[in-house]
Amino acid sequence: MTVLADGPRRLRLGVNIDHVATVRNARGGDHPDPVRAAEIVAAVGGDGITAHLREDRRHIRDEDIARIQAATNLPLNFEMAATDEMVAFALRHRPHAACIVPERREERTTEGGLDAAGQHNRLAPVVARLSDAGIRVSLFIAPEPRQIEAAIRLGAPVIELHTGEYAHATGDARASELARLADMAALAARNGIESHAGHGLTYDNVQPIAAIPQLAELNIGHFLIGEAIFTGLAEAVLRMRALMDAAR
Ligand code: PXP
Repeated sequence: MTVLADGPRRLRLGVNIDHVATVRNARGGDHPDPVRAAEIVAAVGGDGITAHLREDRRHIRDEDIARIQAATNLPLNFEMAATDEMVAFALRHRPHAACIVPERREERTTEGGLDAAGQHNRLAPVVARLSDAGIRVSLFIAPEPRQIEAAIRLGAPVIELHTGEYAHATGDARASELARLADMAALAARNGIESHAGHGLTYDNVQPIAAIPQLAELNIGHFLIGEAIFTGLAEAVLRMRALMDAAR
């Protein structure tokens, strides 16, 4: 474990359970239930639950959020678009954290980072309203200096660095993506912002990310839920946890 100036810091693992709901919704019933997934994550020492209520409700549904919150004591990281509807929903449900993500209806997943730099005026009231309600706001952004600078201007306490480019790259391109992520986590830390990271992380690519000392949390979903089909969710979370710990 890396011992930082502020003491040893364990990298938290937040598990995104959206795709349990994707499988459930394929048949329109109530199985598999994302609440059961949240309970398993809690039982094996996961640090948080992440769920994204999309505008089109393609996986998590409105009623899932309160059920997930009631099921465990784990903090809920609520992923949301910066819309009035989602702000109102967050204010009603008061999750521990709200991660603001870009959302386009036609995308398969959250394909890019939030343009915090280009949307300051739209995001500022959203960050303020959520923060005033005691919700820890995080911005899901690409690892670019101008996005970090925008997060500073917006007063966001947390950023989540999009690791999608890193996950898809190979060879030298992957090494340079990794360096970009490490540099941006360091830039954020120098400005008092906590960094998280996520998207596309797997057993094979998580360790170089987990080794970045300024990161406080990883949020991992699709791969873990996919692995759960073969090994069970508990085993998948424990194995990811072990890989993360070994990298610190
Ligand atoms: N973090 C954020 C902000 C996301 O939008 C997602 C995907 O929903 C993830 C983490 C998890 O990505 P993946 O499902 O690829 O692990």
